[in-house]
Amino acid sequence: MKALWEVLSPGGEEWALAQSLDPARLPGHIAVIMDGNGRWASRRNLPRAAGHKAGVEAVRETVETCARLGLQALTVYAFSVENWKRPRTEVDTLWRLLRIYLRKELPNLQRNGVRLAAVGRVDGLPDGVRRELLAAVEATSSNTGLKVNMAINYGGRAELVDAVNAILERARKAGTLDGLRVDEEAVAAHLYTAGLPDPDLLIRTSGEMRVSNFLLWQIAYAEIYVTDTLWPDFRRIDLLRAIADYQKRERRFGGVTKTAPAVRS
Ligand code: FPP
Repeated sequence: MKALWEVLSPGGEEWALAQSLDPARLPGHIAVIMDGNGRWASRRNLPRAAGHKAGVEAVRETVETCARLGLQALTVYAFSVENWKRPRTEVDTLWRLLRIYLRKELPNLQRNGVRLAAVGRVDGLPDGVRRELLAAVEATSSNTGLKVNMAINYGGRAELVDAVNAILERARKAGTLDGLRVDEEAVAAHLYTAGLPDPDLLIRTSGEMRVSNFLLWQIAYAEIYVTDTLWPDFRRIDLLRAIADYQKRERRFGGVTKTAPAVRS
């Protein structure tokens, strides 16, 4: 796959932004709360489904750009445990779009070494969706490029509950329940995202200042970037803006500035 710098044509803001990025300080893992599909549609007098449909193109472009940048992981919030409260027709539309995306994009993902993973309560998905999702996960499992986590039927609190129950179950089987003590490493090792570094950058579209039960444990030290752009309008340039902004931040992880001010001689 060609790197981003090879596919951009010189001139314009996108080019300038890409040039301004420090390749050594790219976020390894980006998480995205894709919000605003409904508003995008209602501003155009279209049904909400049209917003979700347009949102798929933004997913495609974001995956491609992250892969071209050589990032390690991208986690997108496609369906939350709370989204079941939406009208049945809207939920069905989301499943249909996910299946279309998987079918259409799988060859492309394979060609570009993208590894798909599902994070969330996958067992709670409709049979057909679960089967197709797990088949795509399996088909891409030996790819070594960008890891794309689809957060589906996902909730941050549900994930923590599932992690705790998994720890208890494991200890019960091992006969070590009595006096069991849990530490941060144990919790992290039982999350859906076990083994992946935490997101460095959390992007939320449509201007809402909320984390909406997304990756509650993993975003402890993520830099948060909120843009007013609605998800269906989110393009490569918006991702580059978010990364450029991220590179201006000073990450201290609760400590003090790592680089001492330069001393003039
Ligand atoms: C939020 O917009 C978006 C979602 C609930 C789902 C995101 C889904 C897609 C982008 C399409 C399918 C996904 C994949 C991975 C192929 P909203 O409906 O909450 O918007 P609103 O806040 O303006 O109503």
